[in-house]
Amino acid sequence: MTSPIRTERHDNVLVVISDNPPVNALGQAVRAGLKDAIEEAMSDDAIEAVVIRCDGRTFFAGADITEFGKPPVGPNLPETLDAMEASDKPVVAAIHGTALGGGCEVALACHYRVAVPSAKLGLPEVKLGLIPGAAGTQRLPRLVGAEAALPLVVGGNPISARKAQGIGLVDEIVGEDSLEADAIAFAKSKIGQPVPRASEGTANGDGVRDPDLFDRFRASQARKIRGFDAPNAAIEAVKAAGTMSYAEGVKKERELFTELMSGTQSAAMRHYFFAERAANKIDDVPKDTPLIPIKKVGVIGAGTMGGGISMNFLSAGIPVTILEMSQDALDRGTGTMRKNYENTAKKGRMTADQVEQAMGLLTPTLSYDDLADCDLVIEAVYESMDVKKEVFGKLDEVVKQGAILASNTSYLDVNEIAAATQRPGYVVGMHFFSPANIMKLLEVVRGEKTRDDVLATVMKLSKTIGKVAAVSGVCPGFIGNRMLSKRQEQANALIMEGANYWEVDEVLLDFGFPMGPFQMGDLAGIDIGWHRDPSKVTTVREALCAVGRFGQKAGKGFYDYDEARQRTPSDEVKQIIADFAAKEGKEQREILKDEIRERLLYPMVNEGAKILEEGMAQRASDIDVVWINGYGWPLYTGGPMFWAQTIGLDKVVEGLEKHDLPVSNYLRERSAGSGKFD
Ligand code: 3HC
Repeated sequence: MTSPIRTERHDNVLVVISDNPPVNALGQAVRAGLKDAIEEAMSDDAIEAVVIRCDGRTFFAGADITEFGKPPVGPNLPETLDAMEASDKPVVAAIHGTALGGGCEVALACHYRVAVPSAKLGLPEVKLGLIPGAAGTQRLPRLVGAEAALPLVVGGNPISARKAQGIGLVDEIVGEDSLEADAIAFAKSKIGQPVPRASEGTANGDGVRDPDLFDRFRASQARKIRGFDAPNAAIEAVKAAGTMSYAEGVKKERELFTELMSGTQSAAMRHYFFAERAANKIDDVPKDTPLIPIKKVGVIGAGTMGGGISMNFLSAGIPVTILEMSQDALDRGTGTMRKNYENTAKKGRMTADQVEQAMGLLTPTLSYDDLADCDLVIEAVYESMDVKKEVFGKLDEVVKQGAILASNTSYLDVNEIAAATQRPGYVVGMHFFSPANIMKLLEVVRGEKTRDDVLATVMKLSKTIGKVAAVSGVCPGFIGNRMLSKRQEQANALIMEGANYWEVDEVLLDFGFPMGPFQMGDLAGIDIGWHRDPSKVTTVREALCAVGRFGQKAGKGFYDYDEARQRTPSDEVKQIIADFAAKEGKEQREILKDEIRERLLYPMVNEGAKILEEGMAQRASDIDVVWINGYGWPLYTGGPMFWAQTIGLDKVVEGLEKHDLPVSNYLRERSAGSGKFD
């Protein structure tokens, strides 16, 4: 097999080039090639400097994740990088695309780094439940200081080449189209000078001068890193760079890395990495399906949903025509969108110019005719089949042939909606999650007649607007809400049987969800869908509405809220629930947290199994993608289906039986078989 690494000589500079598509991952052959290339440079007196660069779309984007968990084959990355750094001839990393993880560590082991303006650098290992494992946690702080290194290693988000230059991670920004030539010139300018080695830096003494730095940083990240093991390990590793010798620091990094690699969190997060990418692929839609160009989007409804949906496209530079029924509603909707953008700008995440640019792409209208030349129209109106059918009928008449008509419905039958048009093949569900400009998930609902090019286009578009998409078949509630309803059923039953509602919430918080079902009810508003007749009380929710406990907006719902929106359980609600249970003849008993957890989560897994059996999801990992991105299922467990496999499908079956809950045949089969869903 030919090596993915080749070398080219430019006078006295050896250019080492990696060609390992798609992202130049640092697999065994790449590592071996790099090591050989360094030896070639060292053993040749005619070579006085080295440039390392990559062909294709990016500099090394990291270790090869597919090798993780398999027996290691040498040379390993740390030893390859040590050999590189040990060189007395200057070694220059020439960076384009994304220098991530092991790729960033390659750059750190080089003596200098030059990058094109569009390049990004980062250490995203925490997103795989890991920390950098090739001395990144030791070289980076020694190069840029512990304070600048902490957010990179612990947060895992890449930074731009210019920002990297600002902290001393990049030495020079070079021409976007002249990376190699500029890197060679840079390397030549360093010949004869002593080489700077990151490992010999001092971490700027930050960690030593300011011993509280690490605790302060940990406290500032508390909410973000709750439940995750890797960020804490990352802080420990950077701290080691500030307080230990390089050799000891590297040893510490290795210990932490090895422990994380063998843990369940990293396995779950690596599963998720591939799950997210798999979810964007539709098995029976050919890869080369031609796409429908989407140059202009129409959105019907300028409420919270319609406004949020529109912002996704505007932010991506795609013009949007937004339609409402009245000028008032239109003004209110577009006003809210502007306010949202301006708030983002206030937080420094957008410039004032960008706000104007985005809003400049928006055309408000009251007339359906203005949607005629849109390539995609997304309807975000009231959830009523009659209303939707009317809207789609109208759209079918006015919007040009070949354009996609999408519904943002969260549970209605997309086939029935499609049947209201003469072009059911062009109808698809695009279920966004609120707030639609922020939530990552896009559930793409595939109707019976939805065409391949429509699906392929929507999947591609989801990436353009920064969403994570997963495909669902047509069934009530699709993947996400269908499973949510099973959890809600149990939550409601549990409080009738004597569980405290705050304990139900606590169980989910402890599991890693950002909130529980009753907190969620308070946040969304308990009165949503309420019939507004206080004398008609058939559910706990109706009982709460009857006494004005509408949720956070009323200062009270399931919980009482103070001015800072801090919640405390309410005696009044406890009494309402107890009275209600008595009226229903429900016996109250003490319910332990284990039972609560099992009854909330196992039925979701069972429903997920049914969704798979019916072919409503293509693969179990798609269900994980839906729940992690749309409902706050903790990423470090890998999603409901992966989590169920981790704890054992037999345990889930047993738990469901113990609580007299239904067990699907498919779950039983999988439990008795491989113990895996996919
Ligand atoms: N290893 C193996 N495969 C990888 C990979 C990696 N590090 N990074 C990406 N791929 C694969 C993807 O699975 C995908 O495969 P597919 O086409 O079969 O689905 C393909 O490369 C293209 O990836 P994307 O679809 O994600 O392409 P994008 O252009 O959207 O994104 C990227 C490119 C920003 C590089 C993104 O792929 C990414 O973030 N990759 C992971 C980066 C990372 O986490 N690096 C750290 C690895 S851990 C490490 O380095 C440990 C070290 O410290 C020892």
